[in-house]
Amino acid sequence: MKQPLLATGINGLVGSKIDELLSDKYSFDSMDISDPESPVDITNESDVMNSFKNSSANFVIHFAAYTDVTGAWNQKDDKSGIAYKINVIGTKNIIKACKQFNKHLVHISTAYVFNGENEGYYTENDPLSPIEWYGQTKADAEMEITNSDINWTILRIDQPFRSDNFSKPDIVRRIASGLKNNNLYPQFSNHFFGPTYIDDFALVIDWVIRTGSTGIYNSSSGEKWTDFDFANLINSTFNFKGAVTEGDLNSYLKTLDRPYQINTAMNVDKLKSEIDFKLKTVEEAIKLVDL
Ligand SMILES: NC(=O)c1ccc[n+]([C@@H]2O[C@H](COP(=O)([O-])OP(=O)(O)OC[C@H]3O[C@@H](n4cnc5c(N)ncnc54)[C@H](OP(=O)(O)O)[C@@H]3O)[C@@H](O)[C@H]2O)c1
Repeated sequence: MKQPLLATGINGLVGSKIDELLSDKYSFDSMDISDPESPVDITNESDVMNSFKNSSANFVIHFAAYTDVTGAWNQKDDKSGIAYKINVIGTKNIIKACKQFNKHLVHISTAYVFNGENEGYYTENDPLSPIEWYGQTKADAEMEITNSDINWTILRIDQPFRSDNFSKPDIVRRIASGLKNNNLYPQFSNHFFGPTYIDDFALVIDWVIRTGSTGIYNSSSGEKWTDFDFANLINSTFNFKGAVTEGDLNSYLKTLDRPYQINTAMNVDKLKSEIDFKLKTVEEAIKLVDL
């Protein structure tokens, strides 16, 4: 018999792939705002309580979020705005329900809880230091969780990409599309990030459920890539023979009206030392991508 799991955000870029990859083993009770028959809005406490009451799951996987970083910036400091409501109030409702119904919360977070000024890799011991509103709301959600007395696991990811196509293009599809159509923007050689292979992230979530591990885990690939090198990797792996031109983040920042993290690479040594499988390298993962 499949183990039941409660989940939010199962229609999104990340959640939908996890649902697909883990569906042989788990049956997902989805708290889905788009469900035409019984929509569940996580900003509504009674919606959340009802879903919890009706589920026998011991774990709740919380993917749902307001993920439009620019849209969030336009709501900066607005606690009645949709970004704050979904990311903070929604998470608070889930924490409250986890406490009432004794469920373990697995919360999906982001490297944008950091300021991006670290020249190396962010670890789990680095303090939260968000510089824009999306990151602030996700940091606030983390704080609500870490200050709670429920069982919790926080998994932070960065620039996730998946093996198959999805309606919302991930970073690999956006670059591949630019290369195919010969209109790829210059790629920064002074912006750094840690791509996350969503198919491997499914194994991380399965591991958390199997072991009941608690605490914060940085859960990207643990690698540090520039946009320029990552675009070149995609170009050569898929034989596009397109031109990747080198761009300068500093020129771009002059045109941008919101703060932007320069480096979101995370150290994943803690995760790697505990999991019982091997994460793929970014190069290995890109070879498995079906464009
Ligand atoms: N994508 C990234 O680059 C990235 C990077 C780092 C971390 N993350 C984190 O990873 C998680 C998943 O991200 P994603 O890219 O998969 O997100 P996404 O594609 O934007 O999907 C968001 C999901 O949240 C649901 N949702 C939105 N508002 C809701 C509400 N009020 N009640 C219930 N559900 C609601 C959406 O439902 P509908 O589709 O039905 O509207 C959708 O399923 C998020 O926590 C995000 O912060 C993402």
